[in-house]
Parts: sequence; structure tokens; C-alpha cells
Amino acid sequence: MTILIVGGSGFLGSELIRQARTAGHTTVATYATGPGRSSPTAWCPLDLRDAGRMDAVMADVNPAVVINASSGRADWAVTAEGPLQLAMVAAKYGTRMVHVSSDAVFSGAGRVHYDESALPDPVTPYGAAKAAAETGVLAVHPKAVVARTSLIIGHGRSEHERLVHQLCAGTVDGALFTDDIRCPVHV
Ligand SMILES: NC(=O)c1ccc[n+]([C@@H]2O[C@H](COP(=O)([O-])OP(=O)(O)OC[C@H]3O[C@@H](n4cnc5c(N)ncnc54)[C@H](OP(=O)(O)O)[C@@H]3O)[C@@H](O)[C@H]2O)c1
Repeated sequence: MTILIVGGSGFLGSELIRQARTAGHTTVATYATGPGRSSPTAWCPLDLRDAGRMDAVMADVNPAVVINASSGRADWAVTAEGPLQLAMVAAKYGTRMVHVSSDAVFSGAGRVHYDESALPDPVTPYGAAKAAAETGVLAVHPKAVVARTSLIIGHGRSEHERLVHQLCAGTVDGALFTDDIRCPVHV
């Protein structure tokens, strides 16, 4: 099937392209600032703040499933509103959707483990935007999958792994959190 990977130039998106193609699927990947190094895949520019462009890409690619692996950090228009717009377009075309969310929707206050039924209680602007996106996506596209992942690492290539190695090597200044406990998953 054809899979549209929004944010295909990112860390997770690149791995999604690789695994989808290994499994025999056709991929089309989007980028905001520049295509990734994953190859071979078709690339197209897409900014999640541009709803008209989203519609055009969906109509052109006609994917069986769209995966939103983009990250706009705490930018509300990208991280909260963008996925909602994408879900509206996916629902319009009857396209299945997987939206990647984050454990950042949780505060961690008073509990250690969360299951799928846990309600968001974000404490950061990023977590609030991710929580808003989850609610919006499922409201307009009830069959969409919202997948909350924790810290993504792998092959030493994630930005967090790189930072740890740079700190250990003394090539950058900085500090790591002591009050932020997460359960890393391999990309
Ligand atoms: N990494 C983690 O540890 C972690 C933990 C929990 C959840 N997540 C979630 O997992 C997903 C993937 O994260 P990641 O670390 O792989 O992200 P990433 O490496 O930072 O990649 C972000 C992707 O989003 C694209 N993007 C940025 N601004 C955009 C915009 N305005 N419109 C459309 N696309 C835009 C980027 O395109 P360009 O490269 O062209 O700028 C890039 O392809 C995100 O939803 C993130 O919230 C990640």
C-alpha cells in the first residue's frame, strides 16, 4: 500500500520510511525545510500550517494510510492545530491515520505508570500542544490511531543520544534533567 509519512525527514520518520519500504510498501514522505537522506522515497514539501497544501498532497498521493511523525515542538500552530487539519483532510478522503503523540502529555505527578486510558495532564507548552492535537485528531477522525511514545532512541542517532555523547566528551556545555524520568523506546 501507499503510505504518506508526514515528517519523513525526521528521526522517527526516516525509520518509518525504511521499515515501510522493507515491508514492500510504497512511501511518500514530506518535509518542512528539506528532504531527508532516506532513499529511495518520493518527497514532497508540506507545512502543517497550510491546510490547502495538505488537501492537495492527499489528493495527489491518495495514500491508504497517513502517519503524522512531524514535530513542531511547542509551536501551537504546527503541533496542536496542524494534526487536527491533517485529520480533517484524512477523514475527508477516507484515509486511515496514525498520529504520533508523546508521554509529554503527562505530568508524572503522583504516578509512575500510565496505560492507554490515562488522561493527559500536561505541564509544559509542548505537552499541552500534543494533548490538544490528540483530542482534535480523534474528534474529527474517530478511527485514527493516537500512539503515545516515550523518548525515542536508536543507533546513537537521536538528538538525545547525541547530546549525552557530546556531554560525556566535553564538546558541549549543558546538563541533563534529574527530575524527568522516561522509558526510552527503540526507534
Ligand atoms: N524524539 C523523541 O524522543 C520523541 C518522544 C516522544 C514523542 N515523539 C514524537 O514523535 C514524533 C517524531 O519525533 P522526531 O524526534 O522523529 O521528530 P524530528 O526528528 O524533530 O522531526 C520532525 C519532523 O517534523 C517536520 N516538521 C517540522 N515542522 C513542520 C511543519 N511546520 N509542518 C510539517 N512538518 C514539520 C520536520 O521537517 P524538516 O526536517 O524538513 O524540518 C521533520 O520531518 C513527533 O510527533 C514527536 O512529538 C518524539
